[in-house]
Amino acid sequence: PALKKDILKSKVMGHRGAALLAPENTLASLQAAAATGVKWVEIDVYLIDKGGLIIFHDDTLERCTNGSGLTRETDPLVASMLDAGAWFGDQFKGELVPTLIEALDCIQALGLGLNLEIKHDAADVENIVPTVLDTLKEYWVDNDKLLISSFNHSALKMVFELDPQRHLGQLYEVVPEDWLAQLEQIHGYSVNCDYAQLTQQQAQAIKAQGYKLMCYTANDVDAVAEHWHWGMDMVITDDPSLFASLI
Ligand code: G3P
Ligand code: MG
Repeated sequence: PALKKDILKSKVMGHRGAALLAPENTLASLQAAAATGVKWVEIDVYLIDKGGLIIFHDDTLERCTNGSGLTRETDPLVASMLDAGAWFGDQFKGELVPTLIEALDCIQALGLGLNLEIKHDAADVENIVPTVLDTLKEYWVDNDKLLISSFNHSALKMVFELDPQRHLGQLYEVVPEDWLAQLEQIHGYSVNCDYAQLTQQQAQAIKAQGYKLMCYTANDVDAVAEHWHWGMDMVITDDPSLFASLI
């Protein structure tokens, strides 16, 4: 089993920044996360067709911006002017959709670790992965404060091929039978899965093989009380302050 160095050094990670405290995947959300004292944040990176990496979760613009239509088809200039805060609350009006570069700068200025989730619906893997890696190479300094995660195993395989020293987190909704083969293929660092669908047996097998175990998205301390006993290393939450005693 691969014994993984502890780069996490903490048990709590803010989800989409801190999605319950500020509009998700915005700089305000990163600042809100940092204000709770949390040391790590997760954000989603999305490639738009005309070029440009933005921090965004959905395939469509409606839920989190004042725009409409497919995220991937948005013009980069239009994307940069969308209001991504008003839907959440008046005080966040004018909050923008960050570019990956803006988010990397902000996260490093706040001294946080980053779990960068590559969203794959927006474009083919061959386009998004090299673009993300080039941006990280230029704008992200400390490799030990960076985890790259994705539900898309091919995306992670490509990251491993192009940049083998990165720490990789394989995301699952349900942990599949062949999870270990997948993790070995990418020299993975962690399994990141839905706490509600994880079994104790799976958790113990993941830990026995030397991988870190991270669970999303728990917004209730009791929801993951038993998962800590199963060996869960980190909880991914929309409100890190709920887990203040573990930060
Ligand atoms: O990385 C954990 C979590 O963000 C995965 O699901 O849909 O919130 O990106 P989603
Ligand atoms: Mg995500």
